[in-house]
Parts: sequence; C-alpha cells; structure tokens
Amino acid sequence: MKRSKAEAVRRKLEKISKAAESKLPQKLQPPSDDPVEFAEKWFGIKAFEYQRKLAKAFVKPYLTIVVRWARQTGKSYFVAILLIWYALKHGNVEIGIVGPSLRQAKLYTQRINGLLTKINPSYYERPFRKTMVRFPNGAVIQAFPNNPETIRGHTLHVVCWTEMNFTPDDLDMYDAISYAMATTNGIFIGESTPWSRNHLFYRMFRDDEAYPPSDVFRSHVSWRDAVRPKGPLDPKFVERKKRETAADPFRWQREMEAEWSEDEACYFNQTLITSCIDSNLEYIPEDVIIATA
Ligand SMILES: Nc1ncnc2c1ncn2[C@@H]1O[C@H](COP(=O)(O)OP(=O)(O)O)[C@@H](O)[C@H]1O
Ligand SMILES: [Mg+2]
Repeated sequence: MKRSKAEAVRRKLEKISKAAESKLPQKLQPPSDDPVEFAEKWFGIKAFEYQRKLAKAFVKPYLTIVVRWARQTGKSYFVAILLIWYALKHGNVEIGIVGPSLRQAKLYTQRINGLLTKINPSYYERPFRKTMVRFPNGAVIQAFPNNPETIRGHTLHVVCWTEMNFTPDDLDMYDAISYAMATTNGIFIGESTPWSRNHLFYRMFRDDEAYPPSDVFRSHVSWRDAVRPKGPLDPKFVERKKRETAADPFRWQREMEAEWSEDEACYFNQTLITSCIDSNLEYIPEDVIIATA
C-alpha cells in the first residue's frame, strides 16, 4: 500500500517536472542558409521551380529583383516567406513594404503574421500588429504608405514593392527607396502583374542599359509555367479565366500571360488611370456607407 502511494507521488512529480520543462525557453534553431529549405522545413511549403530561382537570386548576388508572374502564382506568398527568412537571419535590419496604398502593404504584414502563427512563438514578438512585425533579434518588417516622404527618414535593408506596376509616382518612390538603402547595399524586390508601359517596372524589364540583366534579376512566369504541377494554378481556374476574359483579350494578356498589353481603343489609357489613383485614400468601410446612406 505504502509503496503504491510512493509510486503515485513519484509519477505526479515526474509529470510536473515535464510540464515545467516544456515551459522553459527552448534553445532556438537558426534558420537554414537556404530559403527554399527554410520554407519546406519551417512551413511545409515546397517551392516551385520559378520560386526556387527567385530564392537563389535573393540570396545574392542580385540587389535588384523584378518579379512579373501571372495572377495567383505565389508572388506575395513566396516573397513573404523570403522576408521572414531574411528577418530571422539578420538581426537589427529594417525591411520595408510599399505598394499602391498602405492597405495593400498591410495585406503583406497580415500575411506574414498568418505565416508566423505556424512556427514557435519565440521567433517573433507578440501581439501582432497591422503595420509592423517585430522579431526578438531586432529585425522589423514594416508596411509603408505610398508616400516617399515617410520612407526618406528610414534606413532599409530590404524593400518589397508589391503591385509595383499599379503604383503611381513610381520615380519619386524609387528615388526615396534608393536613398533609404544607400548605406545598406539593400535588396529591392518589385513584384506585380503588368499594367502600364510608362512605368519603372516596365523599364526594369526592358531597358538593358539602365537596368542590365547582369545586375537586375528579371523573372517572368506565365500561367503556362505555373499550372499544376509546375505551380499552384488549377487548370480549371485557368479555363474559367480564359472564358471570362474572352471579351477582353488584353486583360488575359496582362493577368495570365503576364505580358504588357493595352487596348489602344480604350478611352482612358492605363498611365492616365494610374495617375488618377490617390494612394492616400482608403476604402470607406461598409458600415460607414450604411450609416450615411
Ligand atoms: N510553393 C507553394 N506551395 C503551395 N501553395 C502555393 C505555393 N506558392 C503559392 N501557393 C498558393 O498560391 C496562392 C496564391 O498566391 P499569392 O502569392 O497570393 O498570389 P499572387 O501571385 O497573386 O501574389 C497562395 O495563397 C498559396 O495557396
Ligand atoms: Mg499578390
């Protein structure tokens, strides 16, 4: 009787000690040097061939990278992984995300927050915020509004420009980004589906003198390169999109072939449309519309 009581106490103690051990800060594994391996081991994401090539370019020697992939092929998804990898790998760095509006830049930080919930919480700081992701090593990922002035005061190590081709005032923005990275030898990634030709995104792909391919990594992926199993596109989705855009082949060209194309018969040209976007305006929340109706 006595013996079994002692045994029960011993078992209880063992349980408590195990529970206490699991609460102790665990020694954190550093991420692997290869972002592709990192994506697979940490998030269970197997990179597609074109994503592998992008990861390779990101690890160097390229400091300027432009990504022109069809819609839904994993631009934002994979670049978000690359940014997390960079932040975990390099302490005290500042990574900036810009886009046509703060709303679009914030979608990136939200996506990053979503990915981080899949890993050990000791790797990032909580609570999650909408515009900023902080890491215990001092690295920060921050979403910026499309306003060159807000970038100018910062020193940035990586800049991701999402929906680049849809962002107005591209030259002012790029100028501010260049200065923010002047002392860091930082990496620039512009990702977008094509829109207007009168834009830096187009020139980065087409102007070999100003942006020589030896310095600028250019990646083009059409739906053909990203349909399963080569990428995440469902062949049924591609078929449906083809049907839906039959009346607007220019849209198919831009969104699925990831090629520039402009309907010359359109009343407003694309450059004009982009220049009319006020990036500081945010959508009116639906409840406000209802309240004022
Ligand atoms: N390597 C991958 N493995 C699994 N799913 C992927 C991979 N890359 C992209 N995806 C899927 O494709 C979807 C679309 O990617 P996203 O980055 O949002 O597209 P976009 O190119 O339009 O930015 C993602 O939500 C994700 O589910
Ligand atoms: Mg995207």
